[in-house]
Amino acid sequence: MINSQLEHDYAKALAALINAGVWDPIEDLQAIMSKHFSSGVLPDSKRLASFRQDVADRCARTPLGHILGYVDFADLRFVVGSGVFVPRVQSMAIVQWIEQNLSLDDRSTVYDLCAGVGAIGLAIWSRTSAKVVCVEIDAIAQIYLKRNIQRLNNDGPGVTLCEADITQIEAFESVRGSADVIVSNPPYVPQDTVLLPEWGVHHPATAIFAPDEGTALIEASARLANSLLKPCGTLLIEHGESQEQQVGSILEVHGFSSICTFVNEHFSDATGPSVTTVGTKV
Ligand SMILES: C[S@@+](CC[C@H](N)C(=O)[O-])C[C@H]1O[C@@H](n2cnc3c(N)ncnc32)[C@H](O)[C@@H]1O
Repeated sequence: MINSQLEHDYAKALAALINAGVWDPIEDLQAIMSKHFSSGVLPDSKRLASFRQDVADRCARTPLGHILGYVDFADLRFVVGSGVFVPRVQSMAIVQWIEQNLSLDDRSTVYDLCAGVGAIGLAIWSRTSAKVVCVEIDAIAQIYLKRNIQRLNNDGPGVTLCEADITQIEAFESVRGSADVIVSNPPYVPQDTVLLPEWGVHHPATAIFAPDEGTALIEASARLANSLLKPCGTLLIEHGESQEQQVGSILEVHGFSSICTFVNEHFSDATGPSVTTVGTKV
């Protein structure tokens, strides 16, 4: 009886998710099922009701991470929730590029600009032992970032939070010329763009959209990177598919050479490609 109720709910939920336009309905449904029914506890009416509510939220296109309360990235589990950006697999291209092309260790310093909940920065720290400074302006994101640093790094010295606005370059005067690598996945979507509801409705606009055809925070990242990096230091910026030329010009203007944009097919998904530009400080 219980199993047939669950089977009925599963079939109904799957049909609803497909109907709502969710791009990966089976994977999302399995994750929501695991949240409610994986503990061996029988699916009583309360559990069924919360399961149905979560499915309804996903059908309303609430991001899966906000429903589950976590997202996995680089073999690490990050706490996330409403009001913060859910890290995307696309950003793994930055982590992998650093692993494959640079030799960082605990004497290296990396800045993660626009760090959000800290996924890129903490992943780099966990894979290279570099010291990482996560710079984030938003108060809600800072709360999650503190939790993730505490949970993953146990508040050790390897990863620190810098509550700052990357456009205020003078706030970083004391650490000028101290960084080996800067990474940034800033808000880069042009302001009038219509996005899937997961990003257009359920994410904070300040994490997604930026002025100047989406390039304002890309430019702020390049400007600050030029000031923070040691000579020959590396900058990696994630951005949109159509922004390659603009980002290349911005990096050139701000003193970078060997500029190269790459699309990483392995870390692209149905929601878009993984696009990153790399440059070396002259
Ligand atoms: C696209 S999200 C990326 C978050 C994170 N890097 C990731 O990949 O998961 C952009 C983040 O930049 C932050 N942000 C926006 N403007 C900023 C600024 N002026 N200074 C610092 N952080 C900023 C937002 O609050 C948001 O957390």
